[in-house]
Amino acid sequence: MTDYDTNIKNLKVLFSENEIKNKLKELAEKIEKSFPQNEDIYVICVLKGSVMFCADLVKHFSNPVQMEFIRISSYGNETKSSNNLQAIDLTLPNLEDKNVLIVEDIIDTGLTARFLTDLFKIKHHPKKVVFTALLNKKCARQAEIEPDFYGFEVDDKFVVGYGLDYKGYYRNLPYIGYFPIQS
Ligand code: IMP
Repeated sequence: MTDYDTNIKNLKVLFSENEIKNKLKELAEKIEKSFPQNEDIYVICVLKGSVMFCADLVKHFSNPVQMEFIRISSYGNETKSSNNLQAIDLTLPNLEDKNVLIVEDIIDTGLTARFLTDLFKIKHHPKKVVFTALLNKKCARQAEIEPDFYGFEVDDKFVVGYGLDYKGYYRNLPYIGYFPIQS
């Protein structure tokens, strides 16, 4: 298992606040175009990590939006996915025949994305499900799944900030940073 130097003093900026802002505008346009014009979009914010991303993304939409929140955990206090998903709160309204947008912070192993996409299709029978993530860590993939849309690709780094945490901290950073590998 990779050991990261998680001292905040050594945190390096990967995507600045401005880069994220510009990317979100571009991403929101592409996402919205994938839904029928003027139809409601049910945005599912996957807590806690996508809180910042989701809140900023929806500001760019012009279709009517309803926001729902679900909570899943796979990391605990580690820097590697535990492969053991905990569905903490999956309470949702009736989404049958609705346009659904699932918003995740990062796709890493892809297990959360696989679980959620299957869950929505099988249990909720929506009209359409689109999955977006701000970050795509392709190198860590275990489940065969790709997001419909994503902002940035990241290589094998543990990233924090803009909603993403390490042991519950750093979610409030306005940028995305990474911890270097311990030498
Ligand atoms: P997956 O199921 O392995 O794709 O993991 C998804 C979840 O793991 C994400 O929603 C994040 O909360 C967390 N995660 C994955 N990579 C990182 C990272 O580099 N930093 C912080 N959290 C991460």
